[in-house]
Amino acid sequence: MMSTLEGQSLKHFRIEKLLGRGGMGVVYLGRDTRLDRPVAIKVLRPDLTANRERQSRFFQEARSAAAVTHPAIAQIYDVDEADGNTFIAMEYVEGKTVSQLIANQELDLIGAVEIALQIAEGLSKAHEANIVHRDIKSDNIMLTRDGHAKLLDFGLAKLLDSPLADGQTETHRDITKTKTFPETQPGTVLGTVAYMSPEQARGKSVTQSSDVFSLGIVLYEMIAGELPFKGESPLDTMHAIAFDEARPVTLVRKNLPPESHRILQNCLRKRPEDRYPDAGALAVDLKRLKKELESGVQRSMTIGTRFQGVIDWVKFSLPFGVKGISGLTVLLILAVIIIFTKINLWVSGSYVLVVLIIYRYIRNRKHRMLKKFTANVSKFPEVRAIRISDDQIVVIVDEAKAKLYLRINSLVEAVNRKIYFGKPVKAAVRDDLPNGEFQQILRESGIVYVREDIVLKSKNSESKS
Ligand SMILES: Nc1ncnc2c1ncn2[C@@H]1O[C@H](COP(=O)(O)OP(=O)(O)OP(=O)(O)O)[C@@H](O)[C@H]1O
Ligand SMILES: [Mg+2]
Repeated sequence: MMSTLEGQSLKHFRIEKLLGRGGMGVVYLGRDTRLDRPVAIKVLRPDLTANRERQSRFFQEARSAAAVTHPAIAQIYDVDEADGNTFIAMEYVEGKTVSQLIANQELDLIGAVEIALQIAEGLSKAHEANIVHRDIKSDNIMLTRDGHAKLLDFGLAKLLDSPLADGQTETHRDITKTKTFPETQPGTVLGTVAYMSPEQARGKSVTQSSDVFSLGIVLYEMIAGELPFKGESPLDTMHAIAFDEARPVTLVRKNLPPESHRILQNCLRKRPEDRYPDAGALAVDLKRLKKELESGVQRSMTIGTRFQGVIDWVKFSLPFGVKGISGLTVLLILAVIIIFTKINLWVSGSYVLVVLIIYRYIRNRKHRMLKKFTANVSKFPEVRAIRISDDQIVVIVDEAKAKLYLRINSLVEAVNRKIYFGKPVKAAVRDDLPNGEFQQILRESGIVYVREDIVLKSKNSESKS
């Protein structure tokens, strides 16, 4: 077992505490003392980089992975070697891994689809840059406390199955060997093998659609609560991946939309050319499924989304913003109307009125969207209170489950997509407020919702005092 590096420094990274161990090394929480920010530091198993050529190939791989930036990909900050330790410094993700969320049964169907969608979008960016992840699994995806999914360990997997020095590709047996570490728990081994694509299991070359297969396994696992391919031993599992059909997820869990089964099928086909070719294609279908699932909550915006591209473009590309443009447009329309109606005061007066009403309607849109947001969020029984002040929303909950974070995050995104005026809103979910602070907030302005039992309780305590 590797000795711990806690308290020591690797270059300008101070190592603070152990976060976990995996197949390729040990992960610590650390601090970048130059930029003064937290980092996660993965110190690689020495045997993986003992060979200089391997190490430099790894540095090369990390460099191309670091070039891909996306909110759903944990950023690589640095790769280096110090005192014989090869390490990667990367974005520290505060949250839980998807495998923990599955084990705690913290996900529901929409939550699972939302995570898969975010990851597919990040992965699609990498695929566009011709980078394959190769080790997508529920241990390599984390969910932050505000509902953002992050894919970890980009570009690392190649270390395990990169070509040997003599230029030959490692064989099937070699992969089992490199992915099997008798000194770690057997669960880890099985876990690692369980997300392989059939071509990986057979030692063939890996493409973007191998990532799609592995992400399909994660999605299946998130929805069904169990893996689609399981064997008694790693070899049995690999055999199942290569030859068996997964049980339709709709049979494992009742009341799933048939679309979920179709999407999983398109991920889990044995031949790469029969699957979604890359994560972008998968993301398109996941987005549609997500809309379908959410349509009970928010049905209104299909025409709006069509104009969204134009509106975003106006919002972000023009110096005077939407307000300026709208003002100018209104003036222009007025001028045209006045000229063409030959200054008929009555007619142009009523036009002005109509224009003003429309303007007001659009301006109040944000207010209405926030009202709708409040109505939707207050439906969750865990939500104790909601406060909205300026552009900051605080949702106070009893216990913050991942699915709640995901749902709130997705509702906030919906609000931001639909407002044409003003700044986007931000939301924080709090489940850690001390009672005193909570009571304080309840008295502040901007409280838009308080759960009934809490209203009653605070009334009681007021009448007692
Ligand atoms: N960037 C990170 N931010 C926060 N925690 C992390 C980060 N990377 C890893 N961890 C934590 O460290 C644990 C071990 O990670 P590690 O990548 O070594 O293992 P693994 O994902 O199980 O296996 P593999 O080596 O195949 O990736 C993870 O389960 C996670 O809890
Ligand atoms: Mg990992």
